Amino acid sequence: MRRLRSTEAIRRLVAEVKLSPDDFVAPVIVREAIAEPNPIMSLPGVVQHTIDSLTLEAKRLVSLGVPALICFGVPALKDARGSGASDPDGIVQQAMRAVRDAVGDQLVVMADLCLDEYTDHGHCGIVRPDGAVDNDATLERYAEIAVVQADAGAAVIAPSGMMDGQVAAIRRGLDTAGHQETAILAYSAKYASALYGPFREAVDVTIAGGGDRRAYQQDWHNATEALAEARLDIEEGADMVMVKPAITYLDVLSAVRAAVDVPVAAYQVSGEYSMIRAAEERGFLDGQAVMLEQLTAIKRAGASFILTYFAAEAAELLGG
Ligand code: PBG
Repeated sequence: MRRLRSTEAIRRLVAEVKLSPDDFVAPVIVREAIAEPNPIMSLPGVVQHTIDSLTLEAKRLVSLGVPALICFGVPALKDARGSGASDPDGIVQQAMRAVRDAVGDQLVVMADLCLDEYTDHGHCGIVRPDGAVDNDATLERYAEIAVVQADAGAAVIAPSGMMDGQVAAIRRGLDTAGHQETAILAYSAKYASALYGPFREAVDVTIAGGGDRRAYQQDWHNATEALAEARLDIEEGADMVMVKPAITYLDVLSAVRAAVDVPVAAYQVSGEYSMIRAAEERGFLDGQAVMLEQLTAIKRAGASFILTYFAAEAAELLGG
């Protein structure tokens, strides 16, 4: 076996999977009412953007050859129904308009569609008096938000709330409003993971009463239901599906890849990113090497593309 491992050139020749800047989607966070970009302590190297700094970042991603970004917004005010999410002048809508003006079709602008960044209780939907998240009341909000996001220039809507029927509701809402061309990337197999911790700091989300999302996100003891979720989403009109997180769920990613015939995305989430950064800071490992190894592993397991906070850095390294 060692004959084909002996030189750098022969290893390159026989490599099955190679990363390229085309593989990445950069998650970006934009915050209302700040004058300067705001560093996020638990996500070293990632910031809450102003609209101006986000526009510059979008241009940088274009120059690095990264084909897409996904936008998250942090509103100045949060309320029970997450009004900011469907405000035509809400922060993420303004940001997407600015990015489209700056880079046009050179970047695929994706909008994360969820309520948790916008609600005062921090849940991904409308909360009933008994404290449970009301599935169907939430679907109505998601359909409204999708239309506002498409109006603002989102080419892809990515619902991440894990409500049943969310893709169908959004597809219907988009079509009724004349947005037949807007695509849907469904967060299909999204697990109730502790790896989202740093992201909650990034978007100022605290779940009321020390709650969690286990009543809507998937239980990580299970793999099979991920296939049912992905198939349902495709039946409901999803153009692409996603598995999230990535490294801890490569078995799920590879099973979903085998089961469906649409692009399958993987999200290397905030905790996966921060663990590498933190270990690197302490000198425990070579962060760049681990980044490339893990991103390659995610692609090898079947990802068509990867949402990752390393997008710009990895693209730069790969010579985009
Ligand atoms: C929900 C959402 C979350 C992430 C993306 N969309 C947080 C959650 O489900 O609690 C996590 C992303 C990450 O950890 O990088 N709007």
